[in-house]
Amino acid sequence: MAVVTIVGAGVIGVSWARLFGAAGWEVRLSDPRPDLPEIVLRDLSGLRVTATDDLAAAASGADFVQEAGPERMPVKETVFATLAEHTRDDVVLASSSSSLLPSLIAAGNPAADRIVVGHPFNPPELMPLVEVVPGPDTSARTVERAMEVYRGLGKLPIRLKKEIPGYVGNRLQKVFTDQAIHLVQEGVIDVADLDDLVRASLGLRWATVGPFESGMLGGGPAGMRHLVTHVGSQLTFETGTPDQARIGEVLDEVEEAYGTGVAAYDRLAELRDERTRAVLEPLGWPVPPAVRDH
Ligand SMILES: NC(=O)c1ccc[n+]([C@@H]2O[C@H](COP(=O)([O-])OP(=O)(O)OC[C@H]3O[C@@H](n4cnc5c(N)ncnc54)[C@H](O)[C@@H]3O)[C@@H](O)[C@H]2O)c1
Repeated sequence: MAVVTIVGAGVIGVSWARLFGAAGWEVRLSDPRPDLPEIVLRDLSGLRVTATDDLAAAASGADFVQEAGPERMPVKETVFATLAEHTRDDVVLASSSSSLLPSLIAAGNPAADRIVVGHPFNPPELMPLVEVVPGPDTSARTVERAMEVYRGLGKLPIRLKKEIPGYVGNRLQKVFTDQAIHLVQEGVIDVADLDDLVRASLGLRWATVGPFESGMLGGGPAGMRHLVTHVGSQLTFETGTPDQARIGEVLDEVEEAYGTGVAAYDRLAELRDERTRAVLEPLGWPVPPAVRDH
């Protein structure tokens, strides 16, 4: 049985653990958090999972490593130094990082050729995409092996041609989220209406066609070339940016709309997972087995 070491048992690490576990991998989960045994019992029951705070022990014997620790360079540096020392020299060390350059994560690391970003969208167990981002020192073999492992998990791995901060998914998401915050701050719309607006339009559209494909359709038979010169030519307004000094007011409104704490999180996650599962199969994506009801 192939062994995966997952570093970090937070939102992303636990979801990776369910995905790998359900696909038949033996999972070794490493995290210094004191409630690690309870997480395994509550969220990963029925899977072949062992958990420890000893990263070196968790890494030795691994066939693949998926890091999902804190998004802080000094922590990534320490974790990847330990991983380099305690894994075989054919083992891919993939980071789930959301925006950090693989070249920075790998800087000074003796296993730089084995380090690659494998960035999932939350939750990795359901969202099909994994962005595979090599740094300049990442070997072709590492990229190929990472793509192969993610495909084996039923994912759609997409390899970027070169590294860039935030990769592609989060660069697009940042522009979008910044504009959403700006519109709420400008008093144009409230938080819940903006979410409904997106679910009823762009969310649904982008689950079925991508932005360029949508551009072809928006322009009719003359395609995106027509859309750009026609409708697009009038989109000349300034889009503005969020006022970071007033971000707290928007966060208050978000918390008021959705609640906070474990019960609110569980309710929102359950609704998201239920809706996501309902659209995956009709859209042609694999639907992984539910490991537990959120
Ligand atoms: N949350 C998201 O939507 C999302 C999506 C895609 C990728 N990511 C990326 O995944 C990674 C994890 O994010 P998250 O949201 O799960 O964070 P999180 O805060 O939920 O979990 C991080 C976990 O790392 C643990 N940790 C701290 N120090 C550690 C160490 N030295 N070794 C092992 N574990 C350690 C913490 O105890 C915590 O359980 C980050 O790199 C993040 O950028 C997050």
